[in-house]
Amino acid sequence: MNTSNRVLVIRSIDKVTEFLTGIRRTGATIGFVPTMGALHEGHLSIIRQAREETDFVAVSIFVNPVQFNNKKDLEKYPRNLDLDLALLTLTRCDLVFIPDEQEMYPDNKHLKEQLDFDGLDQVLEGKYRPGHFFGVVAVLRKLFSIIQPTHAYFGQKDYQQFLVVKRLIQAEAFSIQLVMHPIIRETDGLAMSSRNALLTPEMRQKAPMIYQILQILRDKAGNTEVKEMKMWVRKCFIGLPRIKLEYVAIVDAETLKPIRNWSDSKRPMVCIAAYFGKVRLIDNVFLFS
Ligand code: PAJ
Repeated sequence: MNTSNRVLVIRSIDKVTEFLTGIRRTGATIGFVPTMGALHEGHLSIIRQAREETDFVAVSIFVNPVQFNNKKDLEKYPRNLDLDLALLTLTRCDLVFIPDEQEMYPDNKHLKEQLDFDGLDQVLEGKYRPGHFFGVVAVLRKLFSIIQPTHAYFGQKDYQQFLVVKRLIQAEAFSIQLVMHPIIRETDGLAMSSRNALLTPEMRQKAPMIYQILQILRDKAGNTEVKEMKMWVRKCFIGLPRIKLEYVAIVDAETLKPIRNWSDSKRPMVCIAAYFGKVRLIDNVFLFS
């Protein structure tokens, strides 16, 4: 591959700021795709959408320690920078910003007063991964200020994160158009995730059961009681060695508040988190769609 065709890699805040100031001056729109690397087709599909909708596409790769509530999870998180750079070049991403921890959090000064998310950050992932959204907000606030994109792209895979980012953008008056990309799946239905690489072959074979369950729930929605549907999911996970359901929640997609009856929400969705061995997987679908 011709070196000059390689994706542009920038590691310092000063340099990326200077470079993007030049791009902004031309009036170009800037699409931003924040990631933690270990890129897969889910990430690349988002980048392609950004490519279609904006003039200049910037990706960031930063495994943000602050959003990991579990140290082991942070240590185990897959990293493969050479492959990431090759994939970014192939998807014709224009720039990749790869700061290190010192660059992002000098003197550990990432801590700022938390925003009021109306409890949105306390339920589901927020409940089971305390401090997770604090870290997500800390890093994105900083990345948005550095990159100053016109558009920012996030996946439905982390739907709660998308809602939290929406609040962040409103609260801090960032002038960023937020775009959600649908969940990209393996052919057997498993939602793509960097963590899938950590599954044992046995668990990889079992993991598509999450999406199978979600699809059945989509069929049942409206006709079966909400409570009954959740009970059925819990039953599906009983007695499976080393597989553990962490939560199944049927919530309103705007507020993430649990619903009891179908009449409680115009746009209900179901979210699942489960352990397959040591690997924690999440997935969701909108019901009635
Ligand atoms: P990461 O897990 O690398 O995901 C980066 C983006 O890709 C997120 O918006 C995520 O929702 C999206 N994504 C992941 N798997 C996907 C799939 N199968 N289909 C569609 N989109 C998918 O999410 C993060 O990183 C971090 O929290 C971050 C936003 C970078 C902040 O540190």
